[in-house]
Parts: sequence; C-alpha cells; structure tokens
Amino acid sequence: FHSISRTVWLAPQVQTSLMPRQQFGHKGTYGHVLLVGGNVAMPGAVQLSALGAVKSGAGLVSVMTDEATWPYLQLPYEVMRTSVDYIMNKDFLSKYQVIAFGMGLGIDDQKERMLHQLLEQDVPLLIDADGLTLLGRDLRRLEGRNSPTVLTPHPKEFAMLSGHSVAAIKVNPFSVTKSFAKKHGVFLILKGANTIITSPRGEQIVNTTGNSGLSKGGSGDLLSGICSVRMMQDKPLLSSLANGVFLHGAACDFAIKQAYTPYDVTPTDVAGMLGEAFRTFI
Ligand code: APR
Ligand code: MG
Repeated sequence: FHSISRTVWLAPQVQTSLMPRQQFGHKGTYGHVLLVGGNVAMPGAVQLSALGAVKSGAGLVSVMTDEATWPYLQLPYEVMRTSVDYIMNKDFLSKYQVIAFGMGLGIDDQKERMLHQLLEQDVPLLIDADGLTLLGRDLRRLEGRNSPTVLTPHPKEFAMLSGHSVAAIKVNPFSVTKSFAKKHGVFLILKGANTIITSPRGEQIVNTTGNSGLSKGGSGDLLSGICSVRMMQDKPLLSSLANGVFLHGAACDFAIKQAYTPYDVTPTDVAGMLGEAFRTFI
C-alpha cells in the first residue's frame, strides 16, 4: 500500500486495521481523548463529538469548555468534564492520548492562545471547525511539532486554509490536498461526498461510504469524535483516520437502509448506528 499513492478504503482495509478489543484490556488500553470546544451559542457541536467518541471505543472521554457553557451541555453519562484553566498545564495534558480542538468553540484571542498552547504540546492533535479558522490566522504555528496534527476541513474551510478557491479545490482535490499536507506536515481530511484523507508524506485514501443524510449541521462534529478515538487505537495513523471516516459514512448508510431516510436522519441517529457499522466491519 505504501508503494501506491492512492487507495480506495473498503471493508477489508477496515477489518485489518481496526485495533481488536482485548479480552484482558482495560480502559487504559483504549485511550483517553480530550475534546475542547463548545460555547453558549453552539453547545451542541462538542456534545456530538463526545457522543461520537463514546460510541467509537474510547477508554475515557473528557470535554473541556468554558464555565459559561456548562449549563447548556447535556453530555453522555460517560463523559468527564474539565476546566479550560488546565490548558496551561503540561502535566495535566499529558493524561490524554489525543486532543481534538475547535468544534463549536467560537473565535476570540483567548481561544487562539489556547490553540497555540496545545500546538506546543507533544500530543496528537485533531483540529476542526473554529479551530481551523484560528489556525488559518498563522499556519506557521504548525512548524516544529513532534506529534501528528490532523486537520478536518470541509471545502470552504480548506479554501480558507490553502488560499485556493472552492472551485479550484473541486477541480483537482487530490493534488491541492497532497501539496498542502506535504508542505505543512499534516494529516488532512478533506470532507465531502468522497472524503479524501492525506498523510504528510502524500499518501491518499478515498472514502466511499456515506450519503446525503450527512449533509447537515453536526455531522462533522460527530466525525471529529469518531476519528479522535480511532487515532488512539488503529495503526498506522492514516488508516485510523480512514477507518473513522468510513465508519461514520457506513453508520449513515445503515441508518437510511434500516430505519431512517436521508431527509430525517440526524447526526444523533447516525451515532446510534455506529454499532451496526462496527459489527459489520470488525
Ligand atoms: N455524502 C457523504 N458524506 C457527506 C455528504 C454527502 N453528500 N455531505 C456531507 N457529508 C459528510 C462530510 O464528509 C463530513 O464528514 O458530512 C460531514 C459534514 O461535516 P461539516 O461540513 O464539517 O459539517 P458540520 O457538522 O455542519 O460542521 C459543523 O463546522 O464547518 C463548521 O461552520 C460549521 O460550525 C459548523 C461546524
Ligand atoms: Mg464542521
């Protein structure tokens, strides 16, 4: 697979790269993910990420948001809460195997400083939504990281990051994503009907699952939660991201076959079908 630069991700690839559940494992085996996001105006985004994480095999899931947002959150029972004050604390952050940043976070200078502090940590980072907007102010912040960085833009967000127009991205999505990922040393998930996942070395994977039921606010937030958990478990990292994208789409495919339509299915419903996706592809 390393000799080919573009792979279509299908069931056999998922089956061979998903980390098996271990009979004598414990929650530490599966990793602790920290989701940083949410604000009063958009509290649902980080909730959907938390739901995606809880339903994708995480050992532990924590959410970090500001004090004002807590009363607006209804997190799954399994999720732990932590204060934004800890973003400064290296020892505290070392408890997490992955940190996902930006879902419904909002945009201000304090949040930009939070991102800069996280980028200096030696921990794998997934950056989405408002986190991408903050990162786009200064892409040089990506330089010199010792741990992997994953960016998950939709085409408009990728246009903002790369300087290409949305039209130019649609004409040649493989080459624009490849050159961006190599230039900035990042893993890149360009979301859409056929999501393209690219490694910093320029290897590329195309996803084939999913349907128009996903074209709704919140689908991307759910994906961030799913991918951040697969990142802690599946090897190599590129495969873990492809698995997350594949399972997210497959869950929605099952949803519209078994109980819903592309009209009514919601990201919460999709999360409820993740079990069907795992059952089929493990
Ligand atoms: N077929 C397959 N998959 C699709 C399709 C389709 N036709 N349409 C959308 N998807 C998938 C994408 O691949 C992606 O995984 O749904 C997801 C949509 O993600 P986003 O575009 O990030 O959508 P959203 O959840 O609304 O993002 C929420 O992020 O972009 C910001 O401003 C936005 O704050 C909002 C937040
Ligand atoms: Mg989004």
